[in-house]
Amino acid sequence: MANRLRVAVLISGRGTNLQALIDACAKDDFSAEIVRVISNNEGAFGLERAQAAGLSTVVIDHRDFKDRSHFEKALNDDLEEYGTELICLAGFMRLLTGSFVDCWRDRLINIHPSLLPAFKGLNTHQRTIDDGVRIAGCTVHFVRADMDSGPIIVQAAVPVLPSDDESALSARILAQEHVIFPLALNLIATGCVQIIDEIVVIEGEPAHPRALVSPQLK
Ligand code: GRF
Repeated sequence: MANRLRVAVLISGRGTNLQALIDACAKDDFSAEIVRVISNNEGAFGLERAQAAGLSTVVIDHRDFKDRSHFEKALNDDLEEYGTELICLAGFMRLLTGSFVDCWRDRLINIHPSLLPAFKGLNTHQRTIDDGVRIAGCTVHFVRADMDSGPIIVQAAVPVLPSDDESALSARILAQEHVIFPLALNLIATGCVQIIDEIVVIEGEPAHPRALVSPQLK
């Protein structure tokens, strides 16, 4: 497809969400392409995934810079060099400053493993279990300066089961992350997403009256 949206993916670790985006972008009818994968961690397994897919990669290690602004300047230079139109944060474990976030306003999205605005921050799955929550999930959102905040693009909900430990719940949520991140990216890339008064409006969104009830009643 011509004129695909040029996307950079920022990672720090295993890169399963990156892989979901790579797989989606490999489809003929997908409207985005990954032009650069940037990791702040040279040991990130996601770099191997990117290289296996023939993508252009670079390590920009925050520890090589004297402060955040120099690190972010290096990120910015690289992103601009590759003609990036949208950044996907896919397990990128560095907080970005307000000035970087403002510079990429409405062109920077993140995947978070909870139903935001609940459970911002780290350790979301264990906190979900500890609070006795019955429905959990994941969120793709535009990034704003406050951590894990910004207009919500797509969410997926999953039940929390009585037998769940952190790894079982995180696996169930992760499977949905791999669905909604490509979905959100394609919605943006096809021009279906508008932000009006900090709320995302999706063109042509069908009615969706089904409810997820947890526990499931007989
Ligand atoms: C995911 O759970 C994502 O929601 C969070 O960091 C994790 C990254 O996992 N932001 P992976 O590297 O994509 O496998």
